[in-house]
This record gives sequence, C-alpha cells and structure tokens, in this order.
Amino acid sequence: MSQPSVIRLEDYTPFSHPVKSVHLTFRLHPTATTVRAEIAFDGGTGDLRLDGAALKLLSATINGTPVTPVLDEDGLTVPAAALPDGPFTWVTETQIDPDGNSTLEGLYHRRDLFITQCEAEGFRRITYFPDRPDVMAVYTVRIEGDHPVLLSNGDLTAQGDGWAEWHDPWPKPCYLFALVAGDLQCVEDNFTTMSGRDVALKIWVRDGDQNRCAYAMDSLIRSMKWDEEKYGREYDLDLFQIVAVDDFNAGAMENKGLNIFNSKYVLASAETATDADFDGVESVIAHEYFHNWTGNRITCRDWFQLSLKEGLTVFRDQCFSADMRSAPVKRIDDVLRLRAGQFREDAGPLAHPVRPESYVEINNFYTATVYEKGAELIRMLREIVGPDGYDAALALYFERHDGQACTIKHWLSVFTDATGHDFTQFRRWYQQAGTPRVTVEDRFEGGETILTFRQNTPPTPGQPDKLPVPIPIRWGLLDDSGEVANGTLILTEAEQELRVKTAARTVPSVLRSFSAPVILEQQGQAGDAAVRLAHDTDAFNRWEAGRTLALDVLAGDGDPAPWLDGVQAVLADDTLDAAFRALVLSLPTQEGIAQQMAQRGQVVDPDLVYVRHQSLEEALTSRLGPDAMRISNTIRPTGDYSPDGDAPGQRTLANRLLSLAARRDTGLARDALNAATNMTDRLAALAPLVRAGQAKQELAAFHAEWSGTDLVIDKWFAMQTGLAPADQALDVAKRLQNHDDFTWKVPNRFRSLVGGLIGNTAAFHRADGASYVWLADWLIQIDKLNPMLAARMSAAFETWRRYDQDRQTLILDQLERIASTDGVSRDMGEMVGRMRA
Ligand code: ARG
Ligand code: ZN
Repeated sequence: MSQPSVIRLEDYTPFSHPVKSVHLTFRLHPTATTVRAEIAFDGGTGDLRLDGAALKLLSATINGTPVTPVLDEDGLTVPAAALPDGPFTWVTETQIDPDGNSTLEGLYHRRDLFITQCEAEGFRRITYFPDRPDVMAVYTVRIEGDHPVLLSNGDLTAQGDGWAEWHDPWPKPCYLFALVAGDLQCVEDNFTTMSGRDVALKIWVRDGDQNRCAYAMDSLIRSMKWDEEKYGREYDLDLFQIVAVDDFNAGAMENKGLNIFNSKYVLASAETATDADFDGVESVIAHEYFHNWTGNRITCRDWFQLSLKEGLTVFRDQCFSADMRSAPVKRIDDVLRLRAGQFREDAGPLAHPVRPESYVEINNFYTATVYEKGAELIRMLREIVGPDGYDAALALYFERHDGQACTIKHWLSVFTDATGHDFTQFRRWYQQAGTPRVTVEDRFEGGETILTFRQNTPPTPGQPDKLPVPIPIRWGLLDDSGEVANGTLILTEAEQELRVKTAARTVPSVLRSFSAPVILEQQGQAGDAAVRLAHDTDAFNRWEAGRTLALDVLAGDGDPAPWLDGVQAVLADDTLDAAFRALVLSLPTQEGIAQQMAQRGQVVDPDLVYVRHQSLEEALTSRLGPDAMRISNTIRPTGDYSPDGDAPGQRTLANRLLSLAARRDTGLARDALNAATNMTDRLAALAPLVRAGQAKQELAAFHAEWSGTDLVIDKWFAMQTGLAPADQALDVAKRLQNHDDFTWKVPNRFRSLVGGLIGNTAAFHRADGASYVWLADWLIQIDKLNPMLAARMSAAFETWRRYDQDRQTLILDQLERIASTDGVSRDMGEMVGRMRA
C-alpha cells in the first residue's frame, strides 16, 4: 500500500472553481442507486479536481458535451485545456451501492432505510465533488424511489407518487447535505419564531416509536427559544426535521434543516431511558439545533478549523443545559467528562492542538480536544472579556461572517474588534497541545495573603517546548467565618503573584468554577481541603475539595477520615441540592484514579487501583451504616416519573446510597429492583447484583421483557461487560458476543459490548493481556467494515505508557499486530501509528 498522504494546514489554498448551484437527482436502489449531479461552476483557473470514492462513473459532460476525465482512487481530474473559459455546467451520472456501503459514510442502506452521513468527507461517496467545507452552494434535490417518505434539506417544493423535490435556499458546504428515504412515521409540532414566522417541526421515527419522542420535541422547542433569547438567533426555514436512525457512527448530525440522529439521542421514555439518557437527548438536540448558526450559517474554511463550530456549539449546549438544570452540577459533570476524555487524550500519544496542523484522516480528529477543550477555550474567552464583551463579540461574529466559511483567526478577531482586547497570546491555546499545570503556593506575610502561581505545559508529540498561555483563575479566600475576598486573576506569565490584605492566614479557593482547563497542584496546608469542602461558597470547589481528599487516599496513602467526615456532613445537609450531594458522595472512577496516579508520576497498577477503590467504598459504607438506606428511602422521589426538576438528582443520590448499602445486603438491591418503576431505578438496582455476580435470573427477565427494544438491549449488553467482576468480565464478553442479539455490524451494539469491557478498567487491564488481545481482534475485524468506528475505539490503548513494563509490552504487541494487518485502513493506520510513536 502507498504511504497515505498527510494534509497540512499550511498548504491551504482556495478551490480553483467556485460552485454556484447543485442539482442532484437520486434514483434509489439498495445496491445500484444512480446519482445525477448537475453542478454550475462559475469559471475558475487550472485543472478541475473533484473528490470521489467508491463511485462508478457512468457519464460526464461539460455544457452538454461528453468529456473523459482522468480517474484515480481518490477522484477525477479534468485538465484545464478541456475546460471552457468562464462559467460552465458539469453533469455526471454515477452509480453507488448503499447496501454494500459498510462505512456508514455517504449514502447507506440499513433495515430498509436510506441514510446519509456526509461530515466530514462522505459526500465524495455520493458523487464527484469538491468535498471541502469552503465550497458553498445552493442545492436542489430530486429523489425517486418507491418509499413513503423521501426527505432532503430545506423545503419540500413538489412531490408525487414515488418522487419528491427539495430546495434549500441557504448556500451550504456538501458535508451538510442529507437524504433519508424509507417507511417512517412523524411526530409533529410547531414553533413560532421571534419575528412571528411559523416553523413546522417534524421528528421521524419507525412506527411504534412515536411515543418516545416527546422529550426530544420539548428539548427542540426549548433550544429554539433559548437561542433566540440568549444569542438573538432565529431559525431560518419553514421546516425543521429530525430523523432517528439505529445505524449511525456518531451521536447526531446537523444537516441543514434535516438533522439525522442516532436514535439513542431521540427516543426516550421513563420505561426505557435513564435520567442520563434524557440529559443526553436534551443536550444533543440542543447541540445539533445550535449548529444551524454556529456551523451552518457560519461554517469552517477547512477541517483544521473544526473546533470553530464544535467547540463553540458544545459551549452553547453546555450553557443551555446549565440554564435548564442546576448550573454547578452541570459544570461538575462537564469537568468530569473533560478530564475523563480530554485530559486523558492530552496526556498521551494522541495529544493534539485544538486546531490541529496536520492529519491523515480527518475522522480521527473528532476528538475530546476539538470538542470539549474547544468549548473550554470559549468559556475562557467569556471569562476574560466578561458576559457583555462576549455578547458583543458574538453579535459581531454573526453580523460579519454570516454565509462564510471561516477560521479560528476570524473568530479571535471579532473578540479583539468588539472588546479591544489583544488575543495574540490566547492563540497559543489553539496551537499548543497538552494540559497546562498550574501550581499555587500561599503565604501570609505583612498583613497580606500572597498567592504565587506558576504555569508549565509538558511536552506533547511534536511540541517539545511550550509557552505560557493566558489562564483566567477565579479565586476566593476563606476564613472560619466565610469568604473574605474574591476575584479573577489572568495568569499570563510563567510565574505571577497575587497579594490581598487579610487579617490572618486564609484558605485559598482557586480555579473556582473550573475557570480554565488546567491541572491545579495546590500546596496549601493540611486541613485546607476540609475547610473548602465544608465552607466554600463556590459549589464547584466545594466538590473539588472532596475529590482532592478522596484522591489523596486513592492515589496516595492519605488518611480517609477527613474525606469521610466531610462527605458525611455534606450528605446530612439537606439545604444542598440532592444532585450535588450525590456528586460529593461519589468516588473518582478507577480510570480517574489511574489518571491521577500518572499525573503524580507513579506507575499505575490497575489491580491496586481496584483494591483501593473498593476499600474506600467499603469505608464509606461502614461510616454511613444504616443511614445509607434510611436517607436513600427518604430522598427517592415517588409519583410520576419526571426527567426534569429535582427528581433526577434525588434518584441519583438515592441510588448512590443504595449501591453502598447493597454491599452489605444484596437483598436491598433486589427489593429496589422489584419496586422500580422507571429505567433509572431499575438499572441502578440491577447494578449491585451484576457486580456481585448474582443477577442471572434478573438479567434473563430483563432480556425477556425488552427483547426487540434495541436501545434497552444495548444497556443489557453494556451492563454485563461493564460491571462483571474483573476476573470474569472477559468471559462474559466472549459468551455474549455469541448471543443471538449481538450484531457487531451495528455500532451501538458493538459499542455496548466492547465499550463496556473497555470501561471495566480492571478487567480490560487484566495482567495476562487477554483483554488486549480480544480488543485487537475486534478492531481488526471491524476495521475492514467500518474504519471510523474501529479507529475511534482503538483509543482504548492510548494510555499504555501509564502502566508497568509488562502491560506496556502486551499493549504494544497488539498495536503492532493491528498495524501490520493486511489492508489496515487509513483511519486505523494513523491512530496506531500515532500511539506507537
Ligand atoms: N458534526 C457532528 C456533531 O458534532 C458530528 C459529526 C461526526 N462526524 C465524524 N466524522 N466523526 O454534531
Ligand atoms: Zn457538533
């Protein structure tokens, strides 16, 4: 195989031949769909180079005259000499095989549905086209096929028996093109925009799923309203459609006027979905809707700018969810997610800047760094310029760049122009990979509390030396009576001091609300964390203090008493939100402990992590004694299930306490399971039984009850591989992969079973390496079908350097085996190459 080529940001040049309009005609057929593409090019210079993959070219004409382009593996070329001067019309007919398309990119056919996924580079699997986001055009689409429902972007302009025509008036890049055809039912509502326009809202699902769409619809309407109120953004078509599909690589896709969703983020009912699932529906619906302005009306010039739309849109959906629910709880959840995914990535061989500089396969850069760290950068910008500055910058962004394909440079310029701030140094946040470490030391001297901050970013692949970045640090000072001062410091230098007049030594509370995505190392004095846990006025740091105390036990050899005392007091304080108390009462995951040990420079022993985790759970169980079950029963909401308000947090706390109490008596979990009336409580009650290996009958009953409801059966698989005891989980996985319901070609099912085992830290890192071999076998098999999915999952190995020499060798052996597999995909080749480097 030839060396895959590296795409570099520095090589960017605009496309040679601007496109004005695109007319597409699809004649749908499962194995032989034909696509007629009529593209109006507005002149241009040089050869015409179009991307194409897995296409059969049937004919090509320019202004009606047949031409013979030069075909190769990645597309076609029409030499400049064969092109007319000035504008011309290019028409091709191509044939594609949606059934045979196992990549789930481009147009694919699954369970009688035709579905598209074009971001990032799927459109080239539909027709020859300049498949890049800076080529924007108006699309008209005709679909012919014997299906009750034929959908594309924009507005329906005409339809008849077996055909429909759609027109999208808004110029868009081809990655936002979408088509869906099949037998679907629709749930309808409507929304009146702030200027009084009526928008029809349609959610398309399989027959039988209509009764699980209410929360998605409600979330959509709340999102539309929120974007008007908070950003002044109004929806711009008369129709907004969402389609739920079961076969999808990603979470969802923001195609103009026709979002396509993994059904996991649409379908939800009390019986089938957990509180966490409802949260997921709300935030993904919001995320995709918000893309209409941040992504679609203003898009990316090239894929290096991906965070321009993704970081901003994640930030927007985070703020939306924070407004809908408890803001501090949402912030803690977001930080947990950031650390679990992004800090992990940033600390290993796959670390890359928020704006990468090169890639082989762009699908490998839909990462926690581009999404979650990208969102943190926006949060910091707002922290630096303040809410009014942020609003002014955003208003300027929409005014100046509507209809354009932009860069992160454009984005930072609107902040400079709207606020007068200089963001030259801030650019480093986009360019440098790695998580900055901030240390803070405090002393009391001459009537002042003096905080000394230092920052340092460790080397990452290809970036040995880092420069200081501007770090907004919210801080407060506490004494026994409460808070004595607070403020925000922007740490721009490698070292900086903050001086505050105080009567005596105070306890510093720094990085409040997690105001920057950094690793904070705080010297302080013994007892400081306990003071913050008891008294901090900043909810985030209050939680963080508990976490610090727990990690001192779990990743070091600290004394558990301060943590136990602190969390017990928090639990007893019923002026606090139940959701917040549940967070304080939860332990870091084993993965989180391993990450912390690695940050402290220790070699991670997963077996020891498991033991320590268990013993702190045990200590908490002993400490709470009968209180656990008593409080659990008191706090658990009764009555009709609601995914909103206080009830989800109360369930989380009740179930957390149940999981502790069930350590002593699994009968309590069995009782809770019998009493459960919603999926949240059922799964929470089942978990201790599965962990204890005492759930055989319960699992069988669960399966019998939910057979055929895919999203619930996914949970059934994930729970077993995810929670089985470390020495049994791999056997469980091997048994389940032969189950009739295990269909490895469906990404959700594959992720459930395999992802479950990967998340079962001690099981995945079995000392004999058997889980590594098992995962590599799967990756090799999936890579042949669905490289995007396989490559994504391979990141399970990215932490190999944390572990002992034996495990390192065992993982590297598997990476090597994958790399040397015949026909390894570009996606997987790049991932494995980076991990081994
Ligand atoms: N833009 C989509 C979203 O964030 C995700 C597309 C995923 N595509 C991919 N190639 N991984 O909502
Ligand atoms: Zn997105």
